[in-house]
Amino acid sequence: MRVFVTGASGWIGSAVVPALIGAGHQVAGLARSDSSAAALTAAGAQVHRGTLDDLDSLRSAAAASDGVIHLAFKHDIAFSGDFQGAADADRRAVETFGEALAGSDRPFVLASGTLGLAPGRVATERDGRGPGSAATSLIGGAQTRRATAEMTLSFASRSVRSSVVRLPPTVHGEGDNGFMAALVGIARDKGVSGYIGDGSNRWPAVHRLDAAHLFRLALEKAPAGSALHAIADEGVPIRAIAEVIGRHLDLPVVAISPADAGEHFSWLAGFLAADSPASSALTRELLGWQPTHPGLLDDLDKGHYFDHPSGH
Ligand SMILES: NC(=O)c1ccc[n+]([C@@H]2O[C@H](COP(=O)([O-])OP(=O)(O)OC[C@H]3O[C@@H](n4cnc5c(N)ncnc54)[C@H](OP(=O)(O)O)[C@@H]3O)[C@@H](O)[C@H]2O)c1
Repeated sequence: MRVFVTGASGWIGSAVVPALIGAGHQVAGLARSDSSAAALTAAGAQVHRGTLDDLDSLRSAAAASDGVIHLAFKHDIAFSGDFQGAADADRRAVETFGEALAGSDRPFVLASGTLGLAPGRVATERDGRGPGSAATSLIGGAQTRRATAEMTLSFASRSVRSSVVRLPPTVHGEGDNGFMAALVGIARDKGVSGYIGDGSNRWPAVHRLDAAHLFRLALEKAPAGSALHAIADEGVPIRAIAEVIGRHLDLPVVAISPADAGEHFSWLAGFLAADSPASSALTRELLGWQPTHPGLLDDLDKGHYFDHPSGH
């Protein structure tokens, strides 16, 4: 297939592109800068210059493709305070892809998340679907993103083979600059490896290369309207994560009270307090996906998160 990939230069996209090319697909990646364009060329992809706000350009790239994988998200503005603006831009891009692909039966794969799907119990692919599902515990931009995922699944009724790949909060691996790297950085800065309360709350996790494989399978064969879970570890207790970090950095592992969590963990506190396990049993059964790369604790134990002095 000729696949148009947004976010092809990002953490997950830079694993998805080789997974696609390795399987014989051609990739055109969206690039908004010279450095992203150069990275795509080096990976063997074609470059489609533009940004998420160039809707006409997104429309023509989608129309010229055999399928679209949408991974780009304005994390830069989202993490500097305008999550709603980032989610709104994302929704407009997704609407554009839906219009461009309507009636074609071509695949459209959206990256989404599992966090907050079913707090306190194991979320499955059946959660977060149907009218009102976006209302749950989510607010603002997070609610908009959930609604965008729901809209993507509804493209199935317009003859788009749409699917949503829900990612856990940590998509880990060598070179990770996300939540795990931030947690290591906070432990270094504070001189303790902390967890909130008794640390029994759980995060699901997936290795970046296993996630990339699932995006390929979704593109190739997910039935229209599929919600898929890129989950390898169903739920790793945050305390177990803190213990590996403490061992590698030779720091004490300590409980931080919920009242002090905001000051200790800053923007990460809300995420770190979540108890959000998730299953991928239905995804494995549907697509034959089987994670083969290290789980989160084994990956942390390999040591690469601790090589860089800043922890990032
Ligand atoms: N990583 C995780 O643990 C995780 C967990 C749950 C969900 N997700 C979701 O999975 C998707 C991919 O995440 P990621 O970790 O790979 O993100 P990332 O590393 O931050 O990459 C984001 C990508 O989006 C591109 N982008 C950002 N703003 C753009 C704009 N205005 N126009 C065009 N392209 C733009 C970036 O291009 P540049 O290279 O030019 O910056 C980059 O390729 C996102 O939807 C993310 O929210 C990720």
